[in-house]
Amino acid sequence: MTEHYDHIVVLTGAGISAESGLDTFRDKGGLWSRYSIDDVATPDAYRRNPGLVHDFYNQRRAAARNAQPNPAHYALARLEAEYPGEVMVVTQNVDDLHERAGSQNLLHMHGELFKLRCTDCGTVWNTDGDTSTESVCGSCGSQGSVRPHIVWFGEFPFYMDEIDRHLEACDLFVSIGTSGTVYPAAGFVDTVIRRQKGQTVEINLEPQAENSKSQQKIYGKAGVIVPSYVEELLQTIVSTRSD
Ligand code: OAD
Ligand code: ZN
Repeated sequence: MTEHYDHIVVLTGAGISAESGLDTFRDKGGLWSRYSIDDVATPDAYRRNPGLVHDFYNQRRAAARNAQPNPAHYALARLEAEYPGEVMVVTQNVDDLHERAGSQNLLHMHGELFKLRCTDCGTVWNTDGDTSTESVCGSCGSQGSVRPHIVWFGEFPFYMDEIDRHLEACDLFVSIGTSGTVYPAAGFVDTVIRRQKGQTVEINLEPQAENSKSQQKIYGKAGVIVPSYVEELLQTIVSTRSD
């Protein structure tokens, strides 16, 4: 069956970066088995023990800096470049592997490791190095007000209006490497299913909570499955054109 989509939304999670060597959160041995969310990923944690929070994100930043995009990231960049419809990647990941692979239509709904924010003046800037409670805001000169530009538990994800518009308009929704446990991202598949206008696809190692409601399910490693799935989508274009 050849199918053409006008508007593809891809939701990615930590599983797409696993084969790049970055830890996921909820897999065996994942980050949340070694750290408590309450100690490192909430506004309260940052108030109580900012040093620990800085260290946690310094480690994540260093790991991401040393990691390389894998075939799944490159395949999504290729899809965006070659597919005639719109392709938007919404990622829960805070690493920069999608952009380093070449994706441009990309929304980091949970923030970015390589950005910092000042809690005093709200300025956001790029960073490559470590931060601490001594870090100073280059804009207002405040010390101790620098935090990772990351969405913590209890905070609102970024770009939600834009993401809602894409979910409303999409005719293909693909989730890749996400456990489907953290809302609002975990509810995106339901939003698309309710509209009854979009095909839904889950790509993961195994069925995952909410995303297993998807109409099509493909189980295996993202680095293998995503390139072949993208190839399939691009083939439909070739065959439609030559029809
Ligand atoms: P999780 O760690 O919850 O889930 C990772 C998913 O990736 C699991 O469903 C695995 O089965 C799957 N997976 C692992 N390796 C894979 C591979 N090679 N190929 C395909 N799938 C693979 O990560 P997320 O769903 O991204 O938020 O977690 C969502 C949010 O929870 C994160 O953005 C983060 C976390 O707490 C914040 O920190 C705010
Ligand atoms: Zn400032």
